[in-house]
Amino acid sequence: MWFNTTIGTDIAEAKRFLEQGETVGIPTETVYGLAANALSPEAVLKIFSVKNRPHFDPLIVHVSSANEIEKYTENIPQKAEELMRAFMPGPLTLLLPKKSVIPDLVTSGLDTVAVRVPKHKLTLELLQQLDFPLAAPSANPFGYISPTSAYHVYDQLHGRIPYILDGGTTEVGLESTIVGFENDHAVVYRLGGLSVDDIERITGKAILQLNESSNPKSPGMLKSHYAPKKNLTIRQFNELNIDEIQAENAGAILFNQYIQNSPSPNQILLSAKGDVKEAARNLFAAMRQLDNSNVSVIYTIPFPDTGLGKAINDRLRRAAVGTE
Ligand code: TXA
Ligand code: MG
Repeated sequence: MWFNTTIGTDIAEAKRFLEQGETVGIPTETVYGLAANALSPEAVLKIFSVKNRPHFDPLIVHVSSANEIEKYTENIPQKAEELMRAFMPGPLTLLLPKKSVIPDLVTSGLDTVAVRVPKHKLTLELLQQLDFPLAAPSANPFGYISPTSAYHVYDQLHGRIPYILDGGTTEVGLESTIVGFENDHAVVYRLGGLSVDDIERITGKAILQLNESSNPKSPGMLKSHYAPKKNLTIRQFNELNIDEIQAENAGAILFNQYIQNSPSPNQILLSAKGDVKEAARNLFAAMRQLDNSNVSVIYTIPFPDTGLGKAINDRLRRAAVGTE
């Protein structure tokens, strides 16, 4: 099916397509999603086909409020309730035992479902107006960098989806943090837009299970993921040499200072003021910009390993695998 993809801010239009069982690009605070009716296996199948996503990779179900989560899940642990109260809406996804209304296709046959309440005005309004929740993975072809603007979605998926709801540039810029529960412990499966410190303030010590295997519980944790097409290499900042970079026609994604204080158009600072949150917000757009530029390779550095810096480093490591 071919569509004349439009971008706009018309919630009624997005709703109309979703009610017809089509997929629609939606903004969230983390990254843009590719949404469809989570209760309709036919609609959900379209998500997998538009993204070229393998069916073994389950989807996150988006709802309009934490109260809605009870409709789709059961046996919610106390710690999950506390996390919901603290961080929903927000960049947090919880893995909870699913009720049978959620099609097996959404969870790839797992008995848990991933649920979250996105913190974005347009999408919350859309969810409130719909009488079903939205399954939505990030709106990029499988394995590529997640989109942080409506134009990123258009760039890669135009013609394959009818509509993109434009909610501007995403506020957080990294995907949600995924948390499950085992024997009353919180287990973090994917680092993301909510820091582990924030989670542990509510749950106490959490277990980190950031698998880097080829058959993980959470395939977003695949070793190679979130990757540009160009070779991306991580180096210590002081090992980057400006003459080599220029000779190689390389680009660089940096934190708050240029290599040897020599600015160039192919060096991108993610946060001149040295703020990891701002760096997280700018990361994926910078990766795309250099991937679409004429540089031959991309260098980057380890970011400060605190707060969202941990999630940035996680994405950079996965982006580097397979391109090195
Ligand atoms: O911020 C986000 O989470 C964005 C926005 C659009 O909400 N969504 C997103 O979806 O990043 P996606 O599909 O790109 O990543 C979701 C991850 C996948 O790695 C998937 O394997 C994992 O969540 N996942 C989903 N359901 C799961 C389940 N029941 N058990 C374990 N992992 C699950
Ligand atoms: Mg994704």
